[in-house]
Amino acid sequence: MTDSAVSAAAASPATNSYRPDAAPKDTSVLFAVEEKVGALQDILGFFSTNNISLKHIESRPSKSEGQYDFFVTIDAKYADQLAVVLPQLKGIVNNCQLFNSELSAANAPWFPRKISDLDMYANTILSYGAELESDHPGFSDPVYRERRAMLADLAIKYRHGQKLPHVNYTPEEVATWGRVLTELTKLYPQYACKEHCRVFPLLIDNCGYRPDNVPQLEVVSNFLKDCTGFRLRPVAGLLSSRDFLNGLAFRVFHSTQYIRHHTAPLYTPEPDVCHELLGHVPLFADPSFADFSQEIGLASLGASDEDIEKLATCYWFTIEFGLCRQDGKVKAYGAGLLSSFGELEYSVSDKPEHRPFDPPKTAEQKYPITEYQPVYFVADSFDDAKDKLR
Ligand SMILES: [Fe+2]
Repeated sequence: MTDSAVSAAAASPATNSYRPDAAPKDTSVLFAVEEKVGALQDILGFFSTNNISLKHIESRPSKSEGQYDFFVTIDAKYADQLAVVLPQLKGIVNNCQLFNSELSAANAPWFPRKISDLDMYANTILSYGAELESDHPGFSDPVYRERRAMLADLAIKYRHGQKLPHVNYTPEEVATWGRVLTELTKLYPQYACKEHCRVFPLLIDNCGYRPDNVPQLEVVSNFLKDCTGFRLRPVAGLLSSRDFLNGLAFRVFHSTQYIRHHTAPLYTPEPDVCHELLGHVPLFADPSFADFSQEIGLASLGASDEDIEKLATCYWFTIEFGLCRQDGKVKAYGAGLLSSFGELEYSVSDKPEHRPFDPPKTAEQKYPITEYQPVYFVADSFDDAKDKLR
């Protein structure tokens, strides 16, 4: 037995027990450098010259024009040496911030680390899918309410990895879906963005999008997985913004499975399977839009409540009510528009205000939820929107 082994054995009872979080922490440094040829080489050279080995390095365009952000992680054994050269580093880079990534994560709100962690949300819905407001078209229909409760239970019991619940839609429900599908598909060629128009025929061919058939979430989810890696997950009711956005980080879209009341097929006060399948699904099959959606989700992981609100507002004005400019015309890509007969046409007309999508400004914009939007934000492209969001 060596001296150090004796020391370690003797120290163990005194420190109670070995705790993983008592191990030395890696150190992370975030800084920006001027954009130029060889910038990465210069940074690597600085650490190499000072005998500091990097465990991880990543870079991306900075918020400040003409600069690149670098995020480097340094093994705990180089912490002392880093402390010595830090003043020198600060002299050659901009906005240098030193922090311990593990400590930062420990202080952040809980967030899912893997896709199966989304199972934790199944029972944390804000409102149950069977609880209807008094002005809901199905409020006084006991059969409809019972149906909603049954579908909500299916979603609550669902766990990651299982097949998505199969629903045998009634003839009345199929007729409602058929009416919505038939009416909306008349509008898409004129008002929907080209990505939506490109994917829609594929959904007809591969997922059973027909007036006499409500597509099953399992079939649609498998189609999306093949296209972009996105998948659907049934949800029993309304999730918090944080939980909902966190799902997007894992390319998971929480989808309702019930359908609006048959007495008002062209109106729904809440998301339903028509909204999800006709509004959202076509866009999630587009790689660029899928990346953009995941970008919002990744930003939401561990974010402060204040930032979640901003991200949820950006989500509202893009994934739900987004417009984009294509071939000199304004087209809709937001699911709230692509599943609304009246607002789809209104949104691209000259009645509302159209502003360029600009996340810092968009995130502050107030919006009504029970009437048409007075303001819409127009993106140049999904890639451009994604870059701006970053
Ligand atoms: Fe939606």
